[in-house]
Amino acid sequence: MSIIADDENFIKQSVRKNPVIKAESIEFDKNFENSIRPKSFDTYIGQSALKETLKISIAAAKKRELPLDHLLFYGPPGLGKTTLAGVIAEQMGVEIKITSAPALERPRDIIGILMSLKGGEILFIDEIHRLNKVAEEILYPAMEDFTLDMTTGKSQTVKTMRLPLPKFTLIGATTKAGELSGPLRDRFGIIHRLEFYTEDELSQVITRTAGILNIEIDKEGAHAIARRSRGTPRIANRLVKRVSDFALVKYDGKITQEVANSALDALKIDNYGLDSTDRSLLKLIIEKYDGGPVGIETIAAAIGEDVRTIEDVCEPFLLQAGLLQRTPRGRKVSPETYRHMGYKVPQTAEQQNLF
Ligand code: ADE
Repeated sequence: MSIIADDENFIKQSVRKNPVIKAESIEFDKNFENSIRPKSFDTYIGQSALKETLKISIAAAKKRELPLDHLLFYGPPGLGKTTLAGVIAEQMGVEIKITSAPALERPRDIIGILMSLKGGEILFIDEIHRLNKVAEEILYPAMEDFTLDMTTGKSQTVKTMRLPLPKFTLIGATTKAGELSGPLRDRFGIIHRLEFYTEDELSQVITRTAGILNIEIDKEGAHAIARRSRGTPRIANRLVKRVSDFALVKYDGKITQEVANSALDALKIDNYGLDSTDRSLLKLIIEKYDGGPVGIETIAAAIGEDVRTIEDVCEPFLLQAGLLQRTPRGRKVSPETYRHMGYKVPQTAEQQNLF
């Protein structure tokens, strides 16, 4: 697996968790993530319906001796879109080249990558909704006819060249399927949404990761971490490491329910898995805006986060947990948010049944 460009979203999330995080520790976290990535469908936990359809698509492509159709994965960050692309490459027995749309700024970036591909290989583009118009237009004939249309010269002397490309599979990943242009979306043969993980699935991910890292953990300890991992394996895996540090320094090294709960309390991760940014967002809407609605820009400015981080990283889980709602007039909270945050539910919220 070759990583061509940085997974910017990943870095954004790391920095969000710890704004003073150093470059080396981002690199360390990334190496850690790569070292525990499952390589086969058997070791990839969760997303079972998706796995079954992918296995069929892969078997059919192999029978036809053709590359797999272009695939689009969408869903919140950290659910394993890159990991799944790696598993697909492994099952197809081909190389995968990984990049992300913000790294494909100039036409030559995307042209260079396309020309470096060999027959059957997989090109993975993360955050594909952020691809610029020029790069998108280079991709259309590449995806459709495996050709590269290049123009040389200026105005009157402009010449178009059509170069053949080897047949390849594009796997696109996005947290925002709605922002993908129609023509690009239409060129993907297979489109799948990744779902949040259940507590059971996350606890299997945690047990597997602990095994790889030689960390002792019992069933209750794994569940205690899973419960506060926001349905997201990337978060679960990071918490295993943090809790393990805590277990080693303050206890005998083994992660039990008690150790996990006290470590997570110390890390200020609450029963829903919310961290301090999530809580300050909800607190703001409750205290300053009577439960909302309030515009996302106002929220971002007040809590000192950028709009994109709030939309891509905080909101998907808050929405799915029923703690936040998006309305045309802005974001608002639910009676459950009041209860979870330790506030008395105002009568109006209960009466209006905000949700
Ligand atoms: N680590 C991250 N995602 C995973 C998954 N789906 N299964 C196993 N380990 C993982």
